[in-house]
Amino acid sequence: MAPAIIDGFMSSLLSHDQTTFFHSERLVRIVDAIAQEVGLDGDSLIEAREAAAFHDLGKVEVPISILAKTDILTEDEFFTMKAHSALGADLILKASPDLWNISQGVRSHHERLDGSGYPDGLKGEEIPILGRIIAVADVFDALTHPRPYRQAMFSPESAIEYLQDNVLTSFDPRVVSAMCAIKDNIGFTY
Ligand SMILES: [Fe+2]
Repeated sequence: MAPAIIDGFMSSLLSHDQTTFFHSERLVRIVDAIAQEVGLDGDSLIEAREAAAFHDLGKVEVPISILAKTDILTEDEFFTMKAHSALGADLILKASPDLWNISQGVRSHHERLDGSGYPDGLKGEEIPILGRIIAVADVFDALTHPRPYRQAMFSPESAIEYLQDNVLTSFDPRVVSAMCAIKDNIGFTY
């Protein structure tokens, strides 16, 4: 990804929503470690890091009143929130058609193995590997860090247990094993 594109995306994320910006920074480290553990290298590893950095880029088009809401979202608000993965992919592809793999990783990070995710209801191996990696890292980080609507609820160990309980319905078993293997090496304090 060209440095000018990275700078532009970073500053629009940072100015719109700091919570998402810092969550995305942590995801780069988690995704980098998982991706190496499952054997990605070279350009694929760089793409994994960049997809992690901008997986929630589409949230720049979601009003902050929804992003920062502490109550449960209404159906309409949830619909708007769910648009962020496809919106982010579109923004990335608009910046450069060369960023296809990254855009598809971003688009698919809320897909689930059993087809219950969004936006396309992809199943199993139909979900790009970048999307499957980001999904696991995203849920791990969401469970172990506070969100506007709640405190952090899980220790790293119980977050891993949650992921393991949802292997095959939601998460790629190989990616969850990698998350388990690297969880002590990502250097966050919880
Ligand atoms: Fe997301």
